[in-house]
Amino acid sequence: MKKQIKRIGILTAGGDSPGLNAAIRAVGKAAIGKYGWEIFGFRDGFLGLAQDTFEQLGKDNLSGILTVGGTVLGTGRDKPHRMMIEGKERDMTKAIVRNYKAHRLDALVCIGGGGTHKNSMRLAELGLRIVTLPKTIDNDVALTDATIGYNTALGIATEAIDRLHSTAHSHHRIIIAEIMGHRAGWLTLGAGLAGGADVILIPEIPYDLEKIAAAIRKRSKVGTNFSIVAVAEGAKSLEDAASFVAAERRRAAARTLEEKEYAKLRLAELESEHAGNTLRLAKQLEGLTGLEARVTILGYVQRGGTPSFADRLLATSLGTACVDLIANGAEGIMVAARGNSVQPVPLASVAGKLKLVPLDHPWIQSARSVSTCLGD
Ligand code: F6P
Repeated sequence: MKKQIKRIGILTAGGDSPGLNAAIRAVGKAAIGKYGWEIFGFRDGFLGLAQDTFEQLGKDNLSGILTVGGTVLGTGRDKPHRMMIEGKERDMTKAIVRNYKAHRLDALVCIGGGGTHKNSMRLAELGLRIVTLPKTIDNDVALTDATIGYNTALGIATEAIDRLHSTAHSHHRIIIAEIMGHRAGWLTLGAGLAGGADVILIPEIPYDLEKIAAAIRKRSKVGTNFSIVAVAEGAKSLEDAASFVAAERRRAAARTLEEKEYAKLRLAELESEHAGNTLRLAKQLEGLTGLEARVTILGYVQRGGTPSFADRLLATSLGTACVDLIANGAEGIMVAARGNSVQPVPLASVAGKLKLVPLDHPWIQSARSVSTCLGD
């Protein structure tokens, strides 16, 4: 049954990304202007709802934010059931439900990526009426063609590769650009292809070091002794990928507390060893090719600054559609971008799922067709 809506809440959670403010503005302006609802913005993700830190949104704080990077509400990675409060980890789920009710919220809009969808699902199961918007520069949220922030980050990473070309060329060097994306290769593959990287390494395709070196040596043989390598932060060699798979399997199979602890520790150990992977790759390629190698870690530059027009359009379309969906009684859904339209998809089919690059994706085929080495 359609419930009369009077008041909604909104929060942004997970890593920030360009276009979050455009989404907050779209939801806020449509909620107030089109439907006459009140809207409360909770600060720093789920933490704001747990600690009841919020501000009412209106003309003053919704105007002038369309083009601004970051999120005016602040964000955080705290999970409702595991929050750091005064230096201690606490389960704040009950406080969140209490505050939701105390504000007499009729719905809560959560804007975030993978973690936010899992957390939103847990709260929806407790009876909170939740609608989410997909955002992350990683573009790895299931069942949506795009996520808010990806397009801007893609532009930044592509421009970085463009700029690295001239310096790599002038010094006859290998330049390795490390690109974000967590476990997904969307950002690296997209920017690598758009920027004409000679080697593109993504988590979905474990790489063979010797094959990368051979591709670089082949370029040198025909007089091109510089190469650009676009490497995803999560890309792994065949050997490292096998160690991760074995550790994941051990964790899944662990039964006793001791086995579980050991498996968790082993994975953390592997993660921390992997953190220096790009620098190690540079040294390995220097050894195998005889060329000098340099590393540029693009890091948080990829998440900062003004959103692209595509992200503003996406955020505005998803944000306004989200308000219409709430008005029409929707709950427990994510507002997804599908083709040229916006569609609701059940939260349950998004939470806990990761959208990786399929190995038959047209971008992979195009990269191979222009002789880009993918490390396999
Ligand atoms: O999910 C977005 C992202 O930028 C990933 O690409 C990256 O691995 C991660 O966040 C970095 O997280 P944090 O902001 O917590 O350092």
